[in-house]
Amino acid sequence: EKGGYDWFMRKEIYEQPKAVADTLLGRHGADGQLKLDEIRISESELRAIDKIVIIACGTASYAGLVAKYAIEHWTRVPCEVELASEFRYRDPIVGPTTLVVAISQSGETADTLMAIRHAREQKAKVLAICNTNGSTIPRESDAVIYTHAGPEIGVASTKGFLTQLVACYLLGLYLAQVRGTRFGDEIGSLAAELDKMPAAISAVLADADQVQALAAEFVDAPSVLFLGRHVGYPVALEGALKLKELAYIHAEGFAAGELKHGPIALVEDQLPVFVVVPPQGRDLLHEKVVSNIMEIRARGARTIVLAEQGDTSVAPYADVMISLPKVSTLLQPILAIVPLQIFACELATRKGHDVDQPRNLAKSVTVE
Ligand code: M6R
Repeated sequence: EKGGYDWFMRKEIYEQPKAVADTLLGRHGADGQLKLDEIRISESELRAIDKIVIIACGTASYAGLVAKYAIEHWTRVPCEVELASEFRYRDPIVGPTTLVVAISQSGETADTLMAIRHAREQKAKVLAICNTNGSTIPRESDAVIYTHAGPEIGVASTKGFLTQLVACYLLGLYLAQVRGTRFGDEIGSLAAELDKMPAAISAVLADADQVQALAAEFVDAPSVLFLGRHVGYPVALEGALKLKELAYIHAEGFAAGELKHGPIALVEDQLPVFVVVPPQGRDLLHEKVVSNIMEIRARGARTIVLAEQGDTSVAPYADVMISLPKVSTLLQPILAIVPLQIFACELATRKGHDVDQPRNLAKSVTVE
């Protein structure tokens, strides 16, 4: 059942091109129009929404953070992301014109379920993004977009995360289509770009050897940092979570712009720091991340840079360059997270850990 792989997690990492393709299947037509027939919230209700609140835990919450950037950009509807475990304990402002989006792979996470119940009591519309047919969270929501990752057995989420990202992009583009925002014309081209993601993920997976070598090199590192900006920031958080969960070593993700506000004090000789660099088109952001890399390198960090293929401007400051296929900035997380998943999985297996069942963790957390 592991399909020739030694660990479910490794199998699931390699299943990601298919999981993403399956999640996109049938959701947009040749006319470039998105079809999310399963959303049982009427178009007039979707047009009346004045706020979106995304609630989720762990990896799913990082998919939500990426979604915030995309959804606000495409729809101009204010979008917040909140950890489900915090949501109902702070008297959140939600009501009939709020769309609450609950993201959960398992559909059974208690924190997320309780947050949904609270939102529905306030008459908010709840849309679930979920991978498990018939699970509790979609049953208790007004509508659901299913991700089609197939069963995810490894406790650490991989293909679950990528397909959550895809569902979030589809939702954002669909809302833009329904509400007729200024990005209407771009919907077709972004949907077409999403269709190219499975092949692009395969290209990243084909370079796994380079990441495996890195895992061997850093197997004894006591701590690893991850930096990113814009949608690269949630990627940094997710990269760090994967390493904590699987390798049991200290790892932290930071927004690169926050470095000087504290975290740079952690940087010392030989510290491995992964940096997600935005595509070159985003000049200002790109330039700023490159200068962050220069700053940490000057303090002795080993810089492992994830950047667009052919990005020569960052190469001089990278101890290791991991190249990613060219893609729109907002979609880059789909590709950038893959080497970080492989890194965590390889490093943990080298340490002799069970990557399918990391210590102290459960696949679905059914208590608050
Ligand atoms: O099933 P869910 O998506 O609701 O689970 C949420 C988190 O518990 C989950 O993503 C957790 O953080 C994973 N172990 C991450 O790899």
